[in-house]
Amino acid sequence: MKLDNIVTSRLTKRFGDIVAVDHIDLDVPEGSIFGLLGPNGAGKSTTVRLLCTLLRPTEGEAVVAGHNVVEAPVEVRRVVGVLPEEGNHTLYQRMTAYENLEYFAKLYGIPEEEIPRRIEELLRFMDLWERRDDPAGELSSGNRQRLALCRALLHRPKVLLLDEPTASLDPVAAKRVRELILSLSKKYGMTFFINSHNLAEVQRICDRIAIIDQGEILLAGETDDLRSRLKVEQVFRVRVTNDVAKAASVARSAEFVREVSTEADTIVVKIADPSSNNSRLMRMLLDAGVNIVEFSEEEVTLEDLYLSVIREVKK
Ligand SMILES: Nc1ncnc2c1ncn2[C@@H]1O[C@H](COP(=O)(O)OP(=O)(O)OP(=O)(O)O)[C@@H](O)[C@H]1O
Ligand SMILES: [Mg+2]
Repeated sequence: MKLDNIVTSRLTKRFGDIVAVDHIDLDVPEGSIFGLLGPNGAGKSTTVRLLCTLLRPTEGEAVVAGHNVVEAPVEVRRVVGVLPEEGNHTLYQRMTAYENLEYFAKLYGIPEEEIPRRIEELLRFMDLWERRDDPAGELSSGNRQRLALCRALLHRPKVLLLDEPTASLDPVAAKRVRELILSLSKKYGMTFFINSHNLAEVQRICDRIAIIDQGEILLAGETDDLRSRLKVEQVFRVRVTNDVAKAASVARSAEFVREVSTEADTIVVKIADPSSNNSRLMRMLLDAGVNIVEFSEEEVTLEDLYLSVIREVKK
């Protein structure tokens, strides 16, 4: 049976009048990749800081890998690895990649004879071995972030807390970090807790998601469930080879189509409940003699998601 690796119950953190984290209940099963999704100021970083014992809860409890964050902070720190917000600022910019890891390995009390082997394994895993003698400050931001990840992994944590691991990266470097997270999860099976404000990212890598806003969890569940439950109105682009105006008027006549606009040879449509309505629209267009060459989905924005979450919560 899989145990829950992170459990919070009514976990709360106040800063004066601000309730940054407001009575949240979370369960993160062992070995899962969990995403805490929310806009700026929602309480994501505060939650991570509570889980890694950097902050003390005002109220409520959190247990990480069986250890209570208030009663057993030393044990918690031993089993968690943290990539803080702006994680690469925690590296020494003038020390080389290798020296940074050596320094932190000693700080963590990793046995001296074990250190070189562990550093080499991590640097190779992250594709940084060739960069080992470069000063951290001279690495690209993607490589620096991967080095910060190595740092978080040095003591072989059971739980990794990653605070916006791709926020400052370009799309290619961000993709590489996501791939590494997935292969780390596959190879070592640790539990991941990932903060993000990027819905597409969370949907791609997390098997469970909780949505937080103003310190409160609005909704939580398995990624696939949430996707189908929320019935987000999604935007699709339909590229046609013949009559764009006709395609647009057919789309406008469908009761499940919310908005239609045209761009050159493409109609852009917002569709309610796309899992059942996409094929209906496609059939209507084909029946009207429209020639479809491409039917693609635009990524749902966080704003779209919030609107549908709020609708769902109010039901
Ligand atoms: N040390 C602190 N003192 C006072 N207020 C704080 C402190 N840390 C966070 N807050 C407040 O708590 C709320 C939640 O902040 P938090 O940093 O957890 O949000 P976040 O979801 O990580 O946001 P972001 O996406 O911007 O990183 C915000 O209103 C923030 O201003
Ligand atoms: Mg934050």
